Amino acid sequence: MPHSPPRARALRFQRLLLDWYAAQARALPWRRTRDPYRVLVSEIMLQQTQVSRVEPLYRAFLRRFPSARALAAAPAAEVLGAWRGLGYNRRALNLHRAAQAVVQRHGGRVPGDLEALRALPGVGDYTARAVLAFAFGRDAAPVDTNVARVLARAVAGAPLGKAQAQRLADAVLPRGRAAEWGNALMDLGARVCTARLPRCEDCPVASACAWRRAGGADPAAAGALRPRPQAPFAGSDRFHRGRLVDALRDGPLLPGALGRAAQLDDAARLEGIVAALVREGMAQWAGGVLRLPRAEAAPRA
Ligand code: ADE
Repeated sequence: MPHSPPRARALRFQRLLLDWYAAQARALPWRRTRDPYRVLVSEIMLQQTQVSRVEPLYRAFLRRFPSARALAAAPAAEVLGAWRGLGYNRRALNLHRAAQAVVQRHGGRVPGDLEALRALPGVGDYTARAVLAFAFGRDAAPVDTNVARVLARAVAGAPLGKAQAQRLADAVLPRGRAAEWGNALMDLGARVCTARLPRCEDCPVASACAWRRAGGADPAAAGALRPRPQAPFAGSDRFHRGRLVDALRDGPLLPGALGRAAQLDDAARLEGIVAALVREGMAQWAGGVLRLPRAEAAPRA
């Protein structure tokens, strides 16, 4: 494998990172549970929302929907309501549908199998492996942007494509310690080995870091790993969709009220945004008003 580190250096990297993690791990609520449903909820929330924002909303969500069965049985509108503050509302509908699939296909238990997890709505390579590692303690390596950046810099010392990053993550995973390891990599990426201003002087793995050893340009700044630049949010379709879904949480809207709710006075764009919401099951027309979906938004077997 092109970026496989020498074994001695990989072992030192593992030991340094695990020791650092043991000394300073962030006490986050999803790290205190092995319940696969709770881990799944946390990972879906963390996909696009920062930790500090997720924490209180995660607790509130689980009080309201304490199990996959409870979530599956709730009306979609209620799930979207509980998602307020997290953004990217499509995740809420996917999570709702995933809970329904868990009930239908797996007797209400989130499965501990990569393919079965990946078959759930909204669950991709990263989330499936995160559930395997954090809930089931299986030797799986979840690779998100932060983890990929750490691996490119510290281990490969070279840019990594997605598949290469996964292979390298699999290769350096300390067997039997996947949960600690995944969290340690994420913490290092979030707190030390940050995208724009890495704090190498405070880095616990500096003495084993391939980038530091080789010097030169930041391996994580090159093509494959650079996060795609976010389109400006205000004024984007996603912004107007968000405003509209927020307004629908407070009740149905007549067609004439949609533009103001979405903060958009371009009728053609508004029509496209509404049509997309309806097509995706995020809203529905009923009796001449637009509303959040009723209980049976997702078909049940
Ligand atoms: N981001 C995604 N998963 C996370 C986790 N388990 N801990 C902290 N940040 C995360």
